[in-house]
Amino acid sequence: MADLTVHAAQDAGREEAFQARVDREERVEPKDWMPDGYRKTLVRQISQHAHSEVVGMLPEGNWVTRAPSLRRKAVLLAKIQDEAGHALYLYSAAETLGASRDEMVEALHDGRAKYSSIFNYPTLTWADIGAIGWLVDGAAIVNQVSLCRCSYGPYARAMERICKEESFHQRQGYEIMTVLAQGTAEQKKMAQEALNRWWQPALMMFGPHDSDSVHGSRNMAWKIKRKSNDHLRQQFIDMTVPQAEYLGLAIPDPDLKWNEERGSYDFGPIDWGEFERVLKGGGPVGRERIRARRKAWDDGAWVREAAMAHAEKRRARKMQAAAE
Ligand code: 3HC
Repeated sequence: MADLTVHAAQDAGREEAFQARVDREERVEPKDWMPDGYRKTLVRQISQHAHSEVVGMLPEGNWVTRAPSLRRKAVLLAKIQDEAGHALYLYSAAETLGASRDEMVEALHDGRAKYSSIFNYPTLTWADIGAIGWLVDGAAIVNQVSLCRCSYGPYARAMERICKEESFHQRQGYEIMTVLAQGTAEQKKMAQEALNRWWQPALMMFGPHDSDSVHGSRNMAWKIKRKSNDHLRQQFIDMTVPQAEYLGLAIPDPDLKWNEERGSYDFGPIDWGEFERVLKGGGPVGRERIRARRKAWDDGAWVREAAMAHAEKRRARKMQAAAE
């Protein structure tokens, strides 16, 4: 009993010192002591983020064979490949916290792990690829620029590299929308319909309102998150409305109005019922996404086996050379 009291006092002291360090803006690195809750929430967030990058390749992959020109196809392929790279940085960052990649992937495949709600919507027309780049990557940048200052070093450093590529992704999407918006009446209609489909889901990417955010305030205190869900959502709206105006497209929100006093846009209610349904039931294409991921994993088994066998052979050769 006395031992337990001593341990509890030691842990409290360590947590206090940890918080003081975070407050001094010192980065936390993998070998440093950290509270269990800090480690757990980081593994949760970083692995969810990695899964989002992996699943996020699917809606765009759907358009590789139907891109309207060779240039569009090459750009789209490069973007999808970037997303795979982002997932690798992120899985590696989660591994520095003791998480195993196989376990993380298994959790995604058996439905225990979440990934961003946005990727459970289908890409119905080419304009959806423009809207994804413009809105989804745009929202991702707003969120991720603030994550570049995350207190955990490996995550923050991964985010810096990722943000550079996301800004290229955002621009390619906006450029697709610009061409469509300046095109024929039919093309402009396609662009408007894509904006109508993706606007609310993009706002949901930032997560529930601050009052309903489960991890928000704890993560802000630990400086994992630097800005709250609502703050970032507002920043995204304020940034995106003038971009839609430039395109000559209408944001599908009758309540959207500039608020002079706040220096920000007021906007209408978000359909959180739909958000919950998407998280629980996977949304319009949720099951299809996981099926596709499982298939890709199974189809890639021979590659993993060959790579492991090759690594094993090299290791054996090295050991033999060292012994001689
Ligand atoms: N989709 C799915 N789940 C979501 C969500 C969303 N849009 N928003 C919130 N949630 C989940 C949370 O994960 C949490 O569930 P859990 O307890 O089971 O893990 C629950 O809803 C409550 O939300 P909180 O606000 O309490 O959660 P957080 O404090 O973690 O904030 C977050 C949510 C803002 C998404 C935060 O985790 C975050 O910033 N994550 C990193 C960024 C990220 O994952 N981005 C993915 C976007 S897509 C992308 O980057 C790919 C690019 O190529 C476009």
